[in-house]
Parts: sequence; structure tokens; C-alpha cells
Amino acid sequence: ALDLRVDSVMQLMTLKEKIGQMNQYNGFMDFTGPVPDQGDASAKYQDIRDGMVGSMLNVRGVKNVRAVQKVAVEESRLGIPLIFGFDVIHGYQTMGPIPLAEAASWDLEAIQEASRLAAKEAAVAGLNWTFAPNVDISRDARWGRVMEGAGEDPYLGSKIATARVNGFQGEDLADQFTIAACAKHFAAYGFAEAGRDYNTADVGTSTLYNIVLPPFKAAAEAGARTFMNSFNDLNGIPATANEFLLRDILKDQWDYNGFVVSDWGSIKEMIAHNYARDNKDAARLAVNAGSDMDMESYAYKSHLEELVKEGKVDEALIDDAARRILKVKFELGLFDDPYKYCNEQLEKTVTGSDEMMDGALDMALKSMVLLKNDKNILPLKKSGQKIAVLGDLAFDKNSVLGSWRIGAIDNTAVSLVEGFKSYKGNQVTFERGPRFVTEDVAFAMEVQYNETDTTGTAAALKAAKNADVVVMMLGEHGYQSGEGRSRTQLDLPGLQQEFLEQVQAVNEDVVLVVASGRPLVLSWADENVPAILEAWQLGNQSGNAIAQVLYGDYNPSGKLPMSFPVNVGQAPIYYNRKNTGRPVLPGKDVVFWSHYQDAPNDPLYVFGHGLSYTTFEYNDIKLLNDYSSNGKITVMATLKNTGDVAGTEIAQLYIQDEFASVIRPIRELKGFEKITLKPGESKQLSFTLDKDELGFYDNNGNWIVEDGTFNVWIGGSSKTQLGTNFLLIQ
Ligand code: IFM
Repeated sequence: ALDLRVDSVMQLMTLKEKIGQMNQYNGFMDFTGPVPDQGDASAKYQDIRDGMVGSMLNVRGVKNVRAVQKVAVEESRLGIPLIFGFDVIHGYQTMGPIPLAEAASWDLEAIQEASRLAAKEAAVAGLNWTFAPNVDISRDARWGRVMEGAGEDPYLGSKIATARVNGFQGEDLADQFTIAACAKHFAAYGFAEAGRDYNTADVGTSTLYNIVLPPFKAAAEAGARTFMNSFNDLNGIPATANEFLLRDILKDQWDYNGFVVSDWGSIKEMIAHNYARDNKDAARLAVNAGSDMDMESYAYKSHLEELVKEGKVDEALIDDAARRILKVKFELGLFDDPYKYCNEQLEKTVTGSDEMMDGALDMALKSMVLLKNDKNILPLKKSGQKIAVLGDLAFDKNSVLGSWRIGAIDNTAVSLVEGFKSYKGNQVTFERGPRFVTEDVAFAMEVQYNETDTTGTAAALKAAKNADVVVMMLGEHGYQSGEGRSRTQLDLPGLQQEFLEQVQAVNEDVVLVVASGRPLVLSWADENVPAILEAWQLGNQSGNAIAQVLYGDYNPSGKLPMSFPVNVGQAPIYYNRKNTGRPVLPGKDVVFWSHYQDAPNDPLYVFGHGLSYTTFEYNDIKLLNDYSSNGKITVMATLKNTGDVAGTEIAQLYIQDEFASVIRPIRELKGFEKITLKPGESKQLSFTLDKDELGFYDNNGNWIVEDGTFNVWIGGSSKTQLGTNFLLIQ
């Protein structure tokens, strides 16, 4: 029925109007790419009237959306509604934790719920479409956009991709609180060479099929209505004009029926890539490859009609693209009521409501990872302790909102200082120490750290000396990660490392709270301070959530979705690596093995690592059956809470295919479960693996399952030693 409705509109459309659906313009308020030449707004309105625009991005708020929609609906010949897109990456106005932090929860229900809430708040602001989830796998913390993804692992990444698509789109896209999702950036953007954003990606077939593509496939299978191109070239072909990716894999093999939007200007950027001769050539290449909508290149608008007339683009491709776009508009219910997302009353009651704030707190609590806790210095006592809370970031209400938060209201996060103030039992002093950044930073600006001004250090050191425990919040500015924010150092920027060392010299009992949008190098801290809590950028409820964890009202349970390197030279680093032909240390007098002279091969904190205020023990790994029975095997182990308080553990299952026709990683995550246990309580863990889950993509993209021995481990991180093995004979 939907197809018939789409057809009925298509029949009325001229070629020009069909092309019109394929153009997306930036709005008049924000920009999320190179500063656009906004020109005269009246020209954009005229294009809308002329039926030359299918979508707007960065127009938000009911009043603004309604005004623009009105022009499309009431003043264009066919009155086709626009679809309004926006980057709802970790909330619309109410910010939750950055996606990398969410991923650290390994809590699929919570992640789905966070996306549902974000969709609801966006939908009541007139929006229909988010440019999320980012499902780019990345192994390189230098890349600023790791904050937007789910980390380094394709299994976890695929589960999270599904959860987020389901959260945004709900059961019914026409529901007034759901919006269309967009799996991005297709593909291999996370493999930008050396972590430099927009850089070339040179990815071998095995990695492409087994690591990069699975989360995209999961998003497509979950029904993500749109995909977005990536900026990079993949093996010499820009993703935006990559027929192999867009036609062969996405639209043919995966039978994808949503539409593909370019990234901001990525069509015309093919000229700078030295791939397209001019914008017309770029339009031809992109549309032929399968990019359906042009975001901010003006390439389709300016050249497609001519290209069709010249026979360089088949009109059937235009029909196909327009049809895909119209279909999503129908699914959203925009043809039934173009203003259905424009309800001022709902916008008022839903935006920033308790429902949003409670959701943001819940997700923030679940996202933190306790990296280290010697001497049981955490949790803090509720009374009788003298505590110094130090660091400019502890006072911060803005940076912890994270990157990609265009709809957020500046300075609205609960600071750590404010979070501490709801706990009254201790004598707490607050000192900023040296300033963090030299000035407030806006979305498009580079962060300038204070490198020289030590005002504030003396007062902070005095407070530290007098305290029983020092809590220091240090790390990155929220705008030091995200798009265009790659780093070659992964240290605590500015004066912060020096400040940490000065404080530690006067009081060793330091609890370091790290705010960051990526894994940082924490080697010095790991050696010198007893406790480290990775708090990422947690959004509006940051301070409340961190204080609850520090005081033990919430027992941390997050696990790392990305490895934390020993030093920046280890990047890219990831747990599911191959073994090499010379993996084993033969002895100190022999150099001929795969290693570094000056650092270990392992990261500082491995994928899957994360502590709790209690302790867990894993035992008795065993197999319930073998594969001969029904093509499934069940692996079991016992998990026991061996500490004094209740706690939640994320039990993980890893496998290794010992020998294969294409080398398999030394470990691959294949299952996980989040379990809460009382002190002393045990639980039997049970993971069932279908034999098909033991397969892999060969270098031609075929999924194959090979007989042989598989090692299997269960435990609390990717380093677990509790293992056994089994034989697969099909
Ligand atoms: O969605 C984003 C994309 O991730 C990066 N370039 C701009 C787009 C729209 O804001």
C-alpha cells in the first residue's frame, strides 16, 4: 500500500521535482560542516517553493520547522513535505552520556531507552530524522570521532547499533515520538589513517567484512531508514561514489530499501579527493554509485537534470532515489500530516522534562568505568572524611555536555562540585587549581588549553595537604573530541598532568576522575594514584552521577568498549588482533619477535575491563554438550560475588578459531550478560553458541563456517584466562 502511495506521488512529479527530493539544504541557524555560504535565505525559500528541496538539516524547534514546512506544503506545486534532519547524537536538548560512554554500559536496554528518549525530545522539536547512530568501529583513540561510536568491537557494536536504531525508530515510525535513524558513516571512516579525521582509509578485505561492515549490516537489518556516506576514500574510491559499498553491498546484497544521504559536502569534496573533475562530474559519480540525497554540495540541484538529458545518468536512478526518499516521508506520516511533529504544547512539556533528566542520570550511572581502586579508597565514606575536590573540570557545567550537542543549552550540566554538595556528611573543600582552557569554546573552534597560568595551584595544594582524600577531575574538554578533533597526544592536556603530579606529591590518596571523549593515556596515574574512575562526558547529569558513584550509592559496572593504550605509539590498538608469526617473547637477549623496545604489546586497560566495589570470581567453565547434537553448544561457568556489597558484573564470552583459511583473531567477543548479585551470591552463566556464529567472512565476502578446534573463555574482561575448548565437526 505504501508503494502505491509513493507511486501516486511519483506519477505527478516532473524530473526536476524528483531531483528536488534529492537535495538537502542546511538551515539558517546552525551549521555542522565547513561554514556554508548561506547566501540570501530568500533563495533557499525560493528553491523550496520550486520543489527543489527534499530535506533541511539544522532547522529545529517547532516554530522554525513549521515556518519552513509551510512554504514547502503550501507554496510548492505539489506540496510535498520536507523531512527535517538533525544530529541527535546523545540527546536533543537534554544531553545524556556521549555514545562511547553509553557503550561502556554494555546495557542494551538502557541504550535503547536513551535513544527512545532522545528521539522523543527531538520529535517534539519538529524533527523527523537523526543522523545517528554512528556505527563506525575504530581502533584508534587519536580519531576524535570515537566519542560518537560504540568502540572497537564489531559484536558489541552491532548489538548497540540495533538497540539504538530500535530506540530512535520504535515500533512505528509514524508515531509522533519516533524519528528515522541513520547508520553512518558508510564505510570505514573509523579507519581514517593515523586517526586524522577525513583521512584516507586503506582497509583490507578481511577487516572490512569482519570488523567494519557488521554493525552497518545490523543497523540495516534493524530497519534503519537511512544511511550516510563517509568522507573518506576506501582503497582509493571515495565512499560517496563507491559502487561496491553502496550498490553491491548495501542495496544489492543487503537488499536495503531506505535511502542514502551524502555527508556534508562529500559529493563536491570528491574534487579535492582528485576523483571528480568538477561538481557536475561529482554529481554523476555519486548518483550512479547510489547516493540518493545530496547534503550541502548543490551538485544534484545544479547538474542532475542536465546529466540525465545528456544520457550520463539513467533516469531510473533518479526515480529510485526519489521513491526511496518519499517512502520514508510516508512512513513518518508526513504526507498524512506535515505538521505532525509540530506541537508547541508537547515541545514545552517534553523538552527537558523529568523523564528526560531521569533517563540521562540512569544512563550516566551505567556508563562509568572504575579502572582502578587500590586500598579500597572508593567508595568515599559518607561522614568523618576531609575531602578536597580539585580541578577546573570539577566546576565545569559545559564541557561535560560533550561534543555534538548543538541543541543543548550551554552551562546546564550539573557540575561535580554541585553533585558533591548534595552529600553533607563530610568536610569538603573545593578548589579549581590552574585554569583548564583559556577561553570558552564553541562548536566549530579549536580548544585552547591553559599552558602557563598556574594561578590556583597553591590554594589547591593547600586543600590537598589538609585532606584525607583528594578527588581530582581532569581530562579533555568536551570539544576536544568529535568531528575534526583528532589528536597526536592522548595525555591530560594543558597543565593538568603537572597539576596531578603536584597534588600527588603532597597527598597520595588521590581519586582521579577522568572526563574524556576517548581513551586517554593514563600510565602515570595508573602507577601513582590509587583510584581512577573513567567518567567520559556524561551530559546534563554528570555531577550527580559521579558523586553517586564516588559515594557508593551506585556501584559502578561499566566495562571498556575500547582499549586504553600505554602510550600513544601503541595506537591503533585493539584486543581482537591477529597473533603474527612471532608472538612469543623468546628471552631478553633476542630481538626477533613482534614487540616494541620501549612498551609492552598490551594496552594499559584492556577491552572489557572495569571494576566494581565488590569482587567477582569466575569458576568451573564447562561445556554442556557438543556440536553433534543440534548445531548449538552451551558454555557454562559460575559467577560469584565474593565481596561485601551487591554489584553488577558484565560477564563476557570470547572465542578463538585456532586454525582457519583466513587467520582469525586471538579472541573475539561472542556474548555477554549483565548480572546483579548480592554479596556471596552465585549464578550459573550459560551462553549458547549456534555453529553459524562461529563463522567469518572470507576475502570474497562469503560467510563461512569451518570445522576445527575453538578455544572459549568466560570472564570479566578480554584478558580472562578461564577457558576450555571444543571441536566443531559439521
Ligand atoms: O551528521 C553529520 C556528520 O556526521 C558529519 N558531517 C555533518 C553531518 C550533518 O551535521
